[in-house]
Amino acid sequence: MQCDYFDAGTCRSCTLMGQPYDAQLIDLQTTVAATLSDHVAETHWDTTAYGPESHFRNKAKLAVAGTRQAPTFGILDRGGHGVDLRDCGLYEPGLHRAVVRLADFVTELGLTPYDVTRRSGELKHLIVTHSPDGESMIRFVLRSPGQLGRIERALPGLLESVPGTRVVSVNLLPEHKAALEGDEEIFLTSEQALPMRLNDITLHLRPRSFFQTNTAVAAQLYRQAQQWISQVAPTNVLDLFCGVGGFALHAAADARPASVRGVEISAEAVASARLSAGQLPGRAASGDIRFETGDATGALDDGLPADLVIVNPPRRGIGELADALERSGASHVLYSSCNSTSLATDLDRLPSFRVADARLFDMFPQTRHHEVLLLLER
Ligand SMILES: C[S@@+](CC[C@H](N)C(=O)[O-])C[C@H]1O[C@@H](n2cnc3c(N)ncnc32)[C@H](O)[C@@H]1O
Repeated sequence: MQCDYFDAGTCRSCTLMGQPYDAQLIDLQTTVAATLSDHVAETHWDTTAYGPESHFRNKAKLAVAGTRQAPTFGILDRGGHGVDLRDCGLYEPGLHRAVVRLADFVTELGLTPYDVTRRSGELKHLIVTHSPDGESMIRFVLRSPGQLGRIERALPGLLESVPGTRVVSVNLLPEHKAALEGDEEIFLTSEQALPMRLNDITLHLRPRSFFQTNTAVAAQLYRQAQQWISQVAPTNVLDLFCGVGGFALHAAADARPASVRGVEISAEAVASARLSAGQLPGRAASGDIRFETGDATGALDDGLPADLVIVNPPRRGIGELADALERSGASHVLYSSCNSTSLATDLDRLPSFRVADARLFDMFPQTRHHEVLLLLER
């Protein structure tokens, strides 16, 4: 992939930019296999799953800077000044259209960008998510409610300027800190969730909930998980760090276990998962699928039944949860990891499990980031 921003030195986020994609995939598989070689035999690796090498991101996280007349939408340089990246080639085409139109709309509206060097101004970030059905969720991250009224009054114009917009909200981040968003979310539309159709399941994404940024590869990840879970045919499935429920709902739809429980720390994500479960044909009414807000670390010690446990933790890995898995009655673990180094450490802590199947997913082309899915059995 070629990128003008990269070539000009404006943005260096994609560290592998310019390298042939075939070579990137081979290099990634070799590196990840080496990191996990103590646990995963060469023969256990399935072929690497991947999607398009460009135009794959469903989410734009844009730092807003510059002036009211000439705002920038992209990242901040080391000096805290804005770098405009609205034409980033990683965005899905529909997301790119929405970003460009939103940028024009915000410029015309004259919202004041936040200046991190002076700690003044209002609009800190724009967060845009695009669904496979061509709809968008647009979030304005503001320092204070000062310009909330202007955005509210301009809502009809925004909906017209950015066709397909389904959810609009304002998030308040009053503190001067390196965070993307704050705790308070104010919805401007009656719709509060963006439906994300993956495979034959519709997940719902509310603000402040994690969602895989590469829809095409995420669909392959959940499909693979679903196949392996079906082969195991567990009675009780526990999905830890379940987010909006991608793994749990794929397990429920296909493997048809007697119970599926999801545990997740974000109440917003749990609300999204419950909404999706309610729309899963034929299952929700039975009450078999439940999502709870809580800390996944202690979930197994709380006595939730599980013969197959799914874990999909943040980059740090599962830590002491590994000891709880060892003590548990689970016969299988499905581990989805975005960090093969912490994954290797966690596998050291799971001596009674062995890897039955392994697959790498290139969720983030042009970088070394990746996702690994392992099926572990006792
Ligand atoms: C990598 S995401 C996985 C989400 C989900 N499995 C998916 O497929 O989209 C990790 C999730 O763990 C959640 N999380 C982080 N720490 C947690 C904890 N201690 N207990 C429960 N969930 C946690 C995050 O909010 C996030 O949704």
